[in-house]
Amino acid sequence: MSDKKTQYITSEQMLVQREYTEKIRLRNELDARETGKKKRCYVRTFGCQQNEADSERLAGMASEMGYEITDSEQDADLILINTCAVREHAEERALSITGQFKHLKEKNPSLLIGICGCMVSQETRKERIKHSYPYVSFLFGTSMLYRFPEILYRCIQEQKRQFYLDAGDVGNIAEGMPVRRASDRQAWVSVMYGCNNFCTYCIVPYVRGRERSRHPSCILEECRQLIEQGYREITLLGQNVNSYGKDLSDDIRMDFPDLLAQICSLPGDFKVHFMTSHPKDASKKLINVMAENEKAAKHFHLPLQSGSDRVLSAMNRRYTIADYLEILRYMREKMPDITVTSDIIVGFPTETEAEFEDTLTAVAAAQYDQIFTFLYSPRTGTPAAVMEGQIPEKIKQSRMQRLLDLQNSILADRNRACIGRTYRILVEGRSRGDDAMYAGRTEGGKLVHFPVSEDEDLTGRIALVRITDAAIYHLSGERVSDTDVDEG
Ligand code: SAH
Ligand code: SF4
Ligand code: F3S
Repeated sequence: MSDKKTQYITSEQMLVQREYTEKIRLRNELDARETGKKKRCYVRTFGCQQNEADSERLAGMASEMGYEITDSEQDADLILINTCAVREHAEERALSITGQFKHLKEKNPSLLIGICGCMVSQETRKERIKHSYPYVSFLFGTSMLYRFPEILYRCIQEQKRQFYLDAGDVGNIAEGMPVRRASDRQAWVSVMYGCNNFCTYCIVPYVRGRERSRHPSCILEECRQLIEQGYREITLLGQNVNSYGKDLSDDIRMDFPDLLAQICSLPGDFKVHFMTSHPKDASKKLINVMAENEKAAKHFHLPLQSGSDRVLSAMNRRYTIADYLEILRYMREKMPDITVTSDIIVGFPTETEAEFEDTLTAVAAAQYDQIFTFLYSPRTGTPAAVMEGQIPEKIKQSRMQRLLDLQNSILADRNRACIGRTYRILVEGRSRGDDAMYAGRTEGGKLVHFPVSEDEDLTGRIALVRITDAAIYHLSGERVSDTDVDEG
């Protein structure tokens, strides 16, 4: 592990970026006066919530530079592709989209295409983009995000392609970047960046640098402002939020449960979610804080990855199935209706049929509300990629299907158990499949459909809904007025 300390980007450095922002804004303003049309920026995001949060920063910076944010690449003057590297498929999709944008550049030679994020934070991918995608104008790694205005300015001013990869593996923290949030109800708030866990299959520590925690006062201030602006749902982000605070200086002394408690004690009507928690240090203290705070959403994403102790050890996960099930037991003792979700990797190198069956057993025991399942994907530079005993694709796929079948039957049973109960639903809008129905979610994230009534628009509001029917992926119900609520 690196003994180098987190680099805090100084306010002077941030000011330099604001100067570049201003220079581009002036150019864009002059241009708009001549052409009668504002320049447009399109941001395409791959990967996890951390990337979505980063894209909201990119869009925020682009807005301040005078770009209008568009959701169509067709009419864009600037395209940003924020990439993911977690599985081969994610990289293939990012490269294929980049390829598809070539014809836009041919049609409009002044179009600027930039690529950033986890995939291009690997030297080999940077080189590949540089040589095989000549129409990509600039590239920067994850910890260069705050320098986007400077990189774009240099690209325009010098009329030269710009490639900026991070010099070290440590990473930094930059406060005060502008942000343009995709939703006005739900907000991402990063509490920490990077990861120190080095699970043997995972690329994230290599592309996101070491764990580094934001100062609690910055996090609290961001949450306070969001609540003031009317945000009802805050999701705290980190690759392993349970490590929060470990790297802060001794005089701060704040761990994740303390931080969560402080956020929950802010005044206002909101719920706090968080992800992700690593089971090796999901503490009883955290569970107690969740149980005691009404504003802590009763949802826990606790990735299991495998149900075999031997595989977990080969993955460097540092917990056993017994440890894991004990956390679940305690969590459900304190919060009987909590929604629990998980990630499972199928076909990790050397996984035997019996070990895969251990995963089925563990999934049946855990009774998840949802699982995210992944076929193991070798990532260059990680220890598992060069392990003997890689599992053939066909076997991975048939194991995956068996796991999905099991989870579907568990879900059908769990959802049937909700019939007759009443939940508080945050209404997201009309159902995509049926305009006569609203779609909303329980606090625990279960999707619920219920009929639209003509008299009022409930979008963004809370409705009490009694469940009358259950399918695998959603519940159906009817709105009720005044009754006891069963949470979950
Ligand atoms: N920090 C989070 C996960 C980040 S990646 C955590 O530890 O839970 C999200 C998920 O992608 C992981 O939980 C894992 O299930 C999956 N994943 C990561 N690397 C993978 C790989 N090489 N192949 C398949 N799935 C992978
Ligand atoms: Fe990857 Fe493991 Fe870190 Fe999660 S905890 S980001 S799976 S190395
Ligand atoms: Fe992908 Fe990077 Fe997230 S690799 S999963 S976008 S941290």
